[in-house]
Amino acid sequence: MIITVDGPAAAGKGELTQRLAAHFGYARLDTGKLYRAVGLKVLGAGGDPEDEAAAVEAARALTGDDLEAPGLRSEDAALSASKVAAIPAVRDVLLEFQRGFAAAPPGGAEGAVFDGRDTGTVVIPDAPAKLFLTASPEVRATRRVKQLQEQGTEAIYGRVLQELKERDARDTSRKVAPLKPAEDALVIDTSHLDADAVYAAALEFISAKAPD
Ligand code: C5P
Repeated sequence: MIITVDGPAAAGKGELTQRLAAHFGYARLDTGKLYRAVGLKVLGAGGDPEDEAAAVEAARALTGDDLEAPGLRSEDAALSASKVAAIPAVRDVLLEFQRGFAAAPPGGAEGAVFDGRDTGTVVIPDAPAKLFLTASPEVRATRRVKQLQEQGTEAIYGRVLQELKERDARDTSRKVAPLKPAEDALVIDTSHLDADAVYAAALEFISAKAPD
């Protein structure tokens, strides 16, 4: 069983996918982390995330340590992630890893929950249960500021909002695997919903898709 949860930054995907994975005992893959790790690796080597050769090399050389790198949650990592993510050859390298994860979820789990932008449209297009979370940019920026502050990072609302809009624009307008809901996805606007309400709606939808 594969559940995909796509949507823009800070729409609530992280918390929802963690709860779903715990509920069903499935493995969870935060696919954004892969792109962040590639972006940071390029920056760390003094390269430009928009340089195709450097980004592809970083994607091919990705290690488990890169996925635990400090700074992965920073806004610099997020912006560089959205730059490497617009390069088709980078996406191809990461696609292979993601499909492998779906075919054989780690730990012998019977399913996997994917958190990303294109996991229902491109990575696992035949996933039985697809969700797409969204929320207004202002609500998402407020949430992101809170998350950053909880991590001990200083955050200015106006700057976070601007970076988020920049990332949304790059993610939705890129030629390959743009951010958009799959045709058969349940779209949930979380602007005025709390995490419990989103979780309840998701569980109801998944149960109807895959009754046990
Ligand atoms: O979800 P997160 O904010 O960690 O994602 C960082 C960036 O990685 C996104 O803005 C997007 O450009 C890219 N990404 C992607 N496809 C995914 C997941 C993330 O292009 N499946």
